[in-house]
Amino acid sequence: MPSEKTIYLPNSNLFKNAYINTFEQYKELHKHSIDNPEEFWGEIAKQFYWETPIDIDKFCTYNFDFRKGPIFTKWFDGATTNISYNLLDRNVRNGHGDKIAYYWEGNHPDDYSRLTYKKLLEQVCKFANVLKSKGIKKGDRVAVYMPMILESIVTLLACARIGAIHSLVFAGFSADSFAERIMDCNARVLITADGVWRGEKHLALKSICDQAMEKCAKSGHNVEHCIVVSHLGRVTSPAGVQLNQSNKTPMRHGRDEWWQDLIETASSLCYPEWLQAEDPLFMLYTSGSTGKPKGVIHTTGGYMVYAATTFKYVFDYKPNEVYWCTADIGWITGHTYVVYGPLANAATSVLFEGTPFYPDNDRFWRVVEKYKVNQFYTAPTAIRALMKFDNELVQRHNLSSLRVLGSVGEPINPEAWMWYYKYVGNEKCSIVDTFWQTETGGHVITPLPGATPMKPGSASFPFFGVQVVLLDECGKEIEGEGEGYLVFNRPWPGLMRTLYNNHDRYENTYFNKFPGYYCTGDGARRDANGYLWVTGRVDDMLNVSGHLMSTAEVESVLTEHRGISEAAVVAKPHPVKGECLYCFVTTNDHTKFDDKLLNELKKLVRERIGPFAQPDVIQNAPQLPKTRSGKIMRRILRKVAINNRNIGDPSKSFTNEMSVITLQFGQCGN
Ligand code: WT7
Repeated sequence: MPSEKTIYLPNSNLFKNAYINTFEQYKELHKHSIDNPEEFWGEIAKQFYWETPIDIDKFCTYNFDFRKGPIFTKWFDGATTNISYNLLDRNVRNGHGDKIAYYWEGNHPDDYSRLTYKKLLEQVCKFANVLKSKGIKKGDRVAVYMPMILESIVTLLACARIGAIHSLVFAGFSADSFAERIMDCNARVLITADGVWRGEKHLALKSICDQAMEKCAKSGHNVEHCIVVSHLGRVTSPAGVQLNQSNKTPMRHGRDEWWQDLIETASSLCYPEWLQAEDPLFMLYTSGSTGKPKGVIHTTGGYMVYAATTFKYVFDYKPNEVYWCTADIGWITGHTYVVYGPLANAATSVLFEGTPFYPDNDRFWRVVEKYKVNQFYTAPTAIRALMKFDNELVQRHNLSSLRVLGSVGEPINPEAWMWYYKYVGNEKCSIVDTFWQTETGGHVITPLPGATPMKPGSASFPFFGVQVVLLDECGKEIEGEGEGYLVFNRPWPGLMRTLYNNHDRYENTYFNKFPGYYCTGDGARRDANGYLWVTGRVDDMLNVSGHLMSTAEVESVLTEHRGISEAAVVAKPHPVKGECLYCFVTTNDHTKFDDKLLNELKKLVRERIGPFAQPDVIQNAPQLPKTRSGKIMRRILRKVAINNRNIGDPSKSFTNEMSVITLQFGQCGN
């Protein structure tokens, strides 16, 4: 296994012509971006169309220090533009009209299609006109619950064209979670599809939406229009699986309409709405440590410039290459690196509907070979799942087109890194371990594939415009080697601006702990060579297969059950998922801890949050260990979870020493 000192250099042949091809050049440009952001970002911003040009006096203003007043960040304030114009019209004008924007690869290998920039523009204009005809205008929120199909991209860009704020919810969230998000952002229009196949599983998206809309109606919120893409009828069902006829999608008269019917008669001309650089582009919910999701707001101008720049340099994307990011569009990775970043660069991408395991465990490699993918971007959890299979599954495919391999969502362990490097990258591709968050809009710590000597497991160095600071517990900056809180002391263009309808929570969550800094919630270590190693969350968040969630969120669902009086959830390391949920529950006097209860609890979590949040272990805890002030001692629980019996001398802080013992030998249900 590689040690911290192991270094892999970018392959000189593959990266001879990289945009940034020496580490010296990276360092120089990084310094320039920090010393002179106006010049650095100004040069890049020039490549875009601004209806009202950028005013150098209002280039970037911000306050990160609550003692000096409200927290804010503004980039290019006063300038106006439209991101759909820049991603579509501008590219068509520059001669890319017939270039393929997306190769769509369906769940079933027999299903595929493609869409050019010209066609995409036409579709976006048509759907923008449909939205307008439903009364949607600038600033309105549009709820989206869609699979990985071309209409999803069209939907987002159509919203952007008219200045509506899209609010995508990952189509793996439950009806309850979706309803909560629809109501929080007060969306009156919902866009979805009838259903989708993921492997051999059928997801009835519209019926989940129906349940969500019903929930909303019960709380007095009416969704007025629901537009449904008819998708199931045009794709191949997995072999041997037949959809029951009774699964036919019910449509409510006056509210629900088919996408295809509406688009047919819509005009393909739609003049873009010129938006302020600081007008919201979209919102995206992310888990918060209190359990209530946070609606992260990204704005137009800064996000556009940052998504475009990170995409170009981090993937070293060159014209005519084919790029593939496997992330679902329901997450920020999908927003920035399936939609906005690639399109801003006139790139050709693969949009994949399926899973890595269908029809076989070599599907990813089959798709890479089919489209001759040059940049491949996925998550450590997928890599860990795939490396369990025979390497022959990788080796039977010609993957020689690959140059850059990306990783995102959680720390990549050195074993997975080495496997990715050796078997997928054939020891010649660069691996970019990209650290970022929903809140950061784009990559903030990452190697550059032609420039950065790689250390397996390290996200390495900050991107242009980003200044990393490590702080100790007292808020003192750690110079050189050391470990501490990972924070930033200035904004880059893609940083979120606020939380929807909740600027107080924005200030409290990200800026209150250390005045003057944006706090990521992660810890990091800087080694002797200056490399950054992200060590994981320092708050009560956990990361299951790259899905961030809060322990509080799961605890509150568990205690909803009548038989549960108290619950505590901690993360337990998991070989594939990275982390999994380990739940301790205290039952009330009338409830037996048995299989029936276990199943009810698992079902409840699936229903309230989504299948990805299902606990791996639920343990009976007749009493939870607590401090004198009544705080649950998670440190102890985490140790129990990883089966470490050496929990020190608890007598000093426990109200009841016995509870630890009970815990360790308590019943355990998997
Ligand atoms: C959290 C953000 C970034 C888009 C997908 C997740 C963890 C993310 C890395 C990485 C170590 C990582 C952090 C972060 N994380 N990428 N390369 N190395 N940790 O977005 O749901 O907002 O989650 O994911 O803990 O704070 P998100």
